[in-house]
Amino acid sequence: MAFGAKLAAGVFMLASLAGCDKTPSGAAESSGTTKAASSTEAIKFVTTQDGSPLEIKPELFDTPAAKEFLATGKNPYVGKDDAIAEGKKIFQLYSCTQCHGPEAGGQVGPALTGPNYNYAKDATNKGMFETVWHGTNGGMGAKGKGLMDPSDPNNGITPDELLKVIAWIRSHGQLTGNEDAAS
Ligand code: HEC
Repeated sequence: MAFGAKLAAGVFMLASLAGCDKTPSGAAESSGTTKAASSTEAIKFVTTQDGSPLEIKPELFDTPAAKEFLATGKNPYVGKDDAIAEGKKIFQLYSCTQCHGPEAGGQVGPALTGPNYNYAKDATNKGMFETVWHGTNGGMGAKGKGLMDPSDPNNGITPDELLKVIAWIRSHGQLTGNEDAAS
C-alpha cells in the first residue's frame, strides 16, 4: 500500500529502536527495497492517545532544524540560546503558560520539566512533540497546525515553533530529550 511504501524508511529506522511501540510488524520487510527511493527518510509519528499512526504533512517541516527533526527525531534547538529565547515567547503566545505556569513548573496542567511525565514518552523530544501536536485524552488539547482550531487550517503551532518550545522546556529540566533519538 502507498502509505506503507512512503514511510518505509521511517518504519525501518524505528524498527531498530528498543522499546518502540506499535511498529507494524512486517512493514519494514515487505517494503524494505524502497529504502533507497527518492523520498526523504522520515521518522514515524504516533498519537499519544493510543499510539495509532499520526500523519503530519512533510511540507510543514520547512526549516533546516525541522527537517533534521523529521529525519532523525533529534531536536537541534535543544541547548541553543536563541531558539530557547524564541521558544519562551511562543510558549506564552500559545497560552501554554496559563495551564503549565510561566516556567513550565505546573499549574492547572502538570509540570513539563521532568524527568517524570504522565506520558513516559515525553522524556523524548519526539514523544513530547506528538503529545503537544495531537493532544491527550486527559485535558491537553491538540496544538498542531490545522488541529488547534479545525475550522482554520492556518491556526496552530508549526513544527519549527514547537521544537523551539520544547527546547525552552528542556532548558528547565535535566533531560535534553535527544538521548533516545533515532541516530
Ligand atoms: C487549557 C490548559 C492547557 C493548555 C493551554 C496547554 N496545556 Fe499542556 N496539558 C494540559 C493538561 C490538563 C495536561 C495533562 C493531560 C493528561 O495527563 O492527559 C497537559 C499535558 C501536557 C504535556 C504532557 C505532560 C506529561 O506529563 O506527559 C505536555 C508536554 C504539554 N501539556 C505541553 C503543552 C504546551 C507546549 C502547550 C502550549 C503549546 C500546552 N501544553 C498548552 C493543559 C494545557
